[in-house]
Amino acid sequence: MKKVTSVLLASALLGAALAGCGGNNNKAADPAKTDTAANTANSGSTATPKVGVAIYKFDDTFMTGVRNSIDAAAKGIATVDIVDSQNSQPTQNDKVDLFITKKYNGMLINPVDRTAAGVIIDKAKTANIPVVFLNREPLPEDMKKWDKVYYVGAKAEESGTMSGQLIVDYWKAHPEADKNGDGVLQYVMLKGEPGHQDAELRTTFSIQAIEDAGIKVEKLAEDTAMWDRVKGQEKMAAFLGSHGDKIEAVLANNDDMALGAIEALKAQGYFSGDKYMPVVGVDATAPAVQALQDGTMLGTVLNDANNQGKAAITLAALLAKGEAPTKDNVGFDITDNQYVWISYKKITKDNVADAK
Ligand code: GAL
Ligand code: CA
Repeated sequence: MKKVTSVLLASALLGAALAGCGGNNNKAADPAKTDTAANTANSGSTATPKVGVAIYKFDDTFMTGVRNSIDAAAKGIATVDIVDSQNSQPTQNDKVDLFITKKYNGMLINPVDRTAAGVIIDKAKTANIPVVFLNREPLPEDMKKWDKVYYVGAKAEESGTMSGQLIVDYWKAHPEADKNGDGVLQYVMLKGEPGHQDAELRTTFSIQAIEDAGIKVEKLAEDTAMWDRVKGQEKMAAFLGSHGDKIEAVLANNDDMALGAIEALKAQGYFSGDKYMPVVGVDATAPAVQALQDGTMLGTVLNDANNQGKAAITLAALLAKGEAPTKDNVGFDITDNQYVWISYKKITKDNVADAK
């Protein structure tokens, strides 16, 4: 029967890894060779697969939520070793090498640089260790390298469209939002990390949604704040310095940057009296939900950390046990045999409960 041992001590793990380094290269011991359910009872490592999880960096609000979800959902299905890649692809590659050396049964990778997925897939395939990518989507040509490669994420376009629609709803309901009365929406954009699918597509699709609603737009400024709250505050302070009250809306690719922008706006007297600025983000993190309730953030888009983490570790655990993932055993739809897409949802102060 399955053993419910999902908390793994690093020292015990290291001991096991060292013990495994005695030159024993016996293929017959390969758990993948035992393909009947009954056989899973003969080895603890097969009953509870070991999955190496590498997060791009621990110091990221949204990914901390996903990390907590992975940890919680792993209970009873996998033993997870979750490591911090410290925003360095070489560091992450070293972690992947270590997972392979330790003969883990599966890997769950949130790439630092999504274009590095190809190299990770090559290594995984050589070692025959299935790999699930998360949050940073590998290029399609890399996904095609092996059938034991999956991606769990959310459609970036969808979140962009929804954040644009939040601005549209506000603009239509508030004629005074057009501060200079020229019929054009003057906006500033705080972008996430350039090259990240969520940064590029949220930027494009949010503005597209506003234009699709028949609203003319003028971009006053756009800059990257790298998903970061402090950088968001600095960039917004700079935008206010050069454009001041000409700014009529702030779009941020995530909540941390939106919250930083709100700090900069507060410092200029916004959100007191009748001085207001519509600010939208993406993620629906706890501090963002608080800002919605405080009336400083206009809206955000739920990036479902719970379901993304749950789907990813469930998938990784199944693959690690050599089982074929299906909608039934994963609990989520699988698209094109390799993708699990988790839906976004618009959040305003009227439906904050949906984000909690
Ligand atoms: C995005 C999220 C950002 C940041 C990024 C990291 O999906 O909205 O806040 O966590 O992923 O890759
Ligand atoms: Ca205007």
